[in-house]
Amino acid sequence: MGGIYDDPWAYELACSFREVADEVDALLGWCAGLGAAPATVLELAAGPGEHAREFARRGLAATALDLNPQMCAYAAREAGRAGVEVEVVQDDMTRFDLGRRFDLIVTMLDSTSHLMTLDAFVAHLRRVAAHLSPGGLYIVEMSHPRDRLGDEPSVSTGWTVQRDGVRADVRWGEPGDRLDPVTQIADDHVTMTITDENGTQVVRDVVPYRFWTATELDAAIRLAGGLDAVARYGDFGTGEDTVALTDPEAWRMITILRGA
Ligand SMILES: C[S@@+](CC[C@H](N)C(=O)[O-])C[C@H]1O[C@@H](n2cnc3c(N)ncnc32)[C@H](O)[C@@H]1O
Repeated sequence: MGGIYDDPWAYELACSFREVADEVDALLGWCAGLGAAPATVLELAAGPGEHAREFARRGLAATALDLNPQMCAYAAREAGRAGVEVEVVQDDMTRFDLGRRFDLIVTMLDSTSHLMTLDAFVAHLRRVAAHLSPGGLYIVEMSHPRDRLGDEPSVSTGWTVQRDGVRADVRWGEPGDRLDPVTQIADDHVTMTITDENGTQVVRDVVPYRFWTATELDAAIRLAGGLDAVARYGDFGTGEDTVALTDPEAWRMITILRGA
């Protein structure tokens, strides 16, 4: 894998539209609602490991796993800079075997779109099930199926973020990036334009993206075994701001699985 994931600093800046602390609040709130108080957490396909870092800040023993060596090096460095301990492992989310179990496992920001086949998704879920403590939870955040199956499918989106005097204009997907109707894979053209006082740097990449429907996810869970879906949400809102997956406002597909 190359391109945008080989420049973790630029990737993290591009994704800084998210409120990671708020998302971790929601993740831990959902755990509490299900009677769980995790002490150990594993973030899969963690990239820069922002959520693992936030969990560590809150006193959980956090591990971040990613395939990309640059991401792993960056995640370890940033945890050190933040003064928190995050164990970083370079591995594949379909094959990892860490020899121990975790109270909570999370995969954020549609990283499962890098699982290209049903076999890969099932292998991933089996590895997750093998690493969950009894009663442990797996929370997986995916994009909402409406993005591709709604009345106005969105294949292309753009946003701008600014941090510490650096601006990132991000374009994810181009109008021509169509899903292959058979494989449900699109080659998403991504452009990040980073501007600071020294000039402009453009990072371009083509990222293979596999679209997963809600019913395919259910099928993968059943095929994998060892996990039950116990809750689904359409965004990170909690309490009175809870967004159901079926809500017209829902824009994420967040599923909570419990080790069977
Ligand atoms: C969209 S980024 C998301 C990173 C992080 N989850 C976040 O919320 O910012 C996807 C990440 O998945 C990683 N990845 C892709 N395929 C993987 C695999 N098979 N196993 C582990 N990591 C993988 C990439 O290296 C990249 O860091």
